Parts: sequence; structure tokens; C-alpha cells
Amino acid sequence: MLNKKEVENMIRSGLKAMGAYTPVDPAEVLTQRSEVSARQTLKLDGNENPYGCSPRVQKALAKYREYNRYPDPDQREVRRALAKYTGMKAGSIVAGAGSDDLIDIILRLFIQPGEKVINCPPTFGMYPFCTEIAGGKVVKVPRRKDFSLDIPAIKKVADKKTKLIFIASPNNPTGNQADEAEIKELLAMNLITVVDEAYVEFSGKSLIKMVPRYANLIVLRTFSKWAGIAGLRAGYGICPTNIVPYLLKIKQPYNINLAAHVAILESLKDVDYLQSTVKAMVKERDRLYQALSKIKWLKPYPSAANFILCAVRDRSAKTVYLGMQKKGIFIRYFETPELKDYIRISVGKPEDTPRIIAALKDM
Ligand SMILES: Cc1ncc(COP(=O)(O)O)c(C=O)c1O
Repeated sequence: MLNKKEVENMIRSGLKAMGAYTPVDPAEVLTQRSEVSARQTLKLDGNENPYGCSPRVQKALAKYREYNRYPDPDQREVRRALAKYTGMKAGSIVAGAGSDDLIDIILRLFIQPGEKVINCPPTFGMYPFCTEIAGGKVVKVPRRKDFSLDIPAIKKVADKKTKLIFIASPNNPTGNQADEAEIKELLAMNLITVVDEAYVEFSGKSLIKMVPRYANLIVLRTFSKWAGIAGLRAGYGICPTNIVPYLLKIKQPYNINLAAHVAILESLKDVDYLQSTVKAMVKERDRLYQALSKIKWLKPYPSAANFILCAVRDRSAKTVYLGMQKKGIFIRYFETPELKDYIRISVGKPEDTPRIIAALKDM
């Protein structure tokens, strides 16, 4: 009989060695590390929508009676609704259990073991994580000091084994956007170019209209941020129409569960309401940025998303993060060499900003 060690040794070697993704912890866990009650905590580490989901979503989820059935594996109604929302063809859309799911499916579709994927850190951690799980090789091309893309370095590094590149715009955690000319330069390199627009509702600048003109462009979107349903897992990709059948074929058949299905449809019936919360967050982002700018030891970066990255000077960013946690204000700290001197703060409600600033001033 095999012993435990022998079974462990059967795990794919690449996966055994790879680092884990660091997700955000749930509020209950964070609260245990703070000195305040759950009611007094402020969760600003996941770029979530502090206003919650549309009230229509809440009602429709409670009313829905068909949870005993499997959802539609072809996502017909959801894709039709997304087509209406985006102005793109339903045949160019695939939905996923969050855009994380699409990142994973795209990599599994295109990447053979050993093929290379370009990643431009600091950026979203799921790109290298899913690449490694797919057996691909991550090639890092760090962003410049101002967090813009280093296009000449990207061009230099791409070789015959390089197949795909991820660009988040606005980028998480830096908040800046790639411009259309840069994306066009990348598209001309003939790599599968995945532009991740998770925060596009806060920036208003999208490249989806370019998808029909480029055979190698995929744009990802999510309902987690603007629509306030991160917990239900709903995202989608706008893709070249000939690629869609392959993505649909290899995804988990029921990746959009019925709660996500209901929530997507109802959110899209309440876009005006959701847009009003987006507007409130954009307004608050600018107020928070101004307030953070006044703290001498912080350097906030302008953001087109619903969070603000700040460089921490003259003190340890990790100590600030832990000190805020103690006060029940949960912000994001990344234990990576390139981000060890930074904190990221998600935008909250207007009443949250003075509390954030007072706590920071107390550090
Ligand atoms: C750039 C970016 N892409 C994708 C995601 C994941 O979104 P979802 O919740 O749809 O999986 C995030 C979440 O933080 C993100 O920052």
C-alpha cells in the first residue's frame, strides 16, 4: 500500500513547488485580529462595492424557486443580457464564475506545458497563479517606476514560446490605465492579448469595441466590483467569435450557478441604480485621494478604479497595515518585494473616509 509521502510525491512537481495565491480573508477572521466589535469594522481590502448589490437582486434571489435544477450550460439568457448591456454580440460572450474563472479557462485553452505567458507586475495575482496551474511559464516584465507598461521590454522578452499576455486596465493594485496605442502595439506582437477590465465601470474607458477587429484580443469584465456581487461569482469575457465555442466547450458545464444567473439578469435590469453607486464611489475616490495626499508619509497614486495605492515613507507599510487592522480598518498589504512599501485602500462610503484618515494619522 502507498504511504502518505508516496502519494504526496505523485503531485505534479510544478504545483508542489508553486507559491499559493494570497486571497483576502473574510470579515469574521479579520475581526478576530482587531480590537473592535464586528459592527465597527471597515472592510477596505477587496475592492468590493460598499453599497451592496441591487435591491432587485436581493428580492429575486429570495423569490427564485428553481434551485433544484441545473443552470443552462450554454448561458443563453445571461449571454443575451450581457450582449444588450455591452452592445456586443452574444456570440462573442462567455460568462464565468467571476473573471477568475475566465482567466483559468483561457489559459487552459491556449497554454501547453512550458509555453510562456507575460505578466507585468505589480498586477493582479491570479495571472501568474493560473498560468502555473496550467503548466505555463510566467515571464515577468515589471512595470516602470510610474507603473506604466514597459512595452520595449515586453517586445524584447517575447520569443517563439511566448503565447499570451495579461494587461489589467485599470490595473490592480496601481489604479492606472493602459492606453489604446499601447494595447495596439501589444496586439501587433501576435500574442493572445487579454485586457482585464474588472474596474472599467469606474474608469469609463473600455476597449471592447476593438474585439471584432482583432483575432487575438479578449476583454474580461466582472460583476464583483460595480455590481456588488463578488460573493456570487459572476464575470464574462468578450472574445473573438471563433474562440467562444472552444471556451464554452472546455469550461465547467455549470460554471454560472443559478444564484449568479439570477443576480446577473437582475443587476442588468437595475443598471441606473448600480451606476449611482459607482458614481458615489468615484466621487469618494477623489475625496479620499485628496485627504491621503495631505498625510506627509503617504504618497497616493491617482486611480481610475475603486481603490487607491499608497507608497508608505519613513515607516513600515506592514506596521501601518497591522495597526489599521487592530483598529478594525482592513486594508490590503502585499508581501511581495515590489509592493512591500505600499498599502492599498478600497474606496468606502463618504462616512468612511474621515475614519480612515483619522486612523492613519494615529499610526
Ligand atoms: C484586475 C482584476 N481582475 C479580476 C479580478 C477578479 O474578479 P472576479 O471576482 O470576477 O473573479 C480582480 C479582483 O480583484 C481584479 O482586481
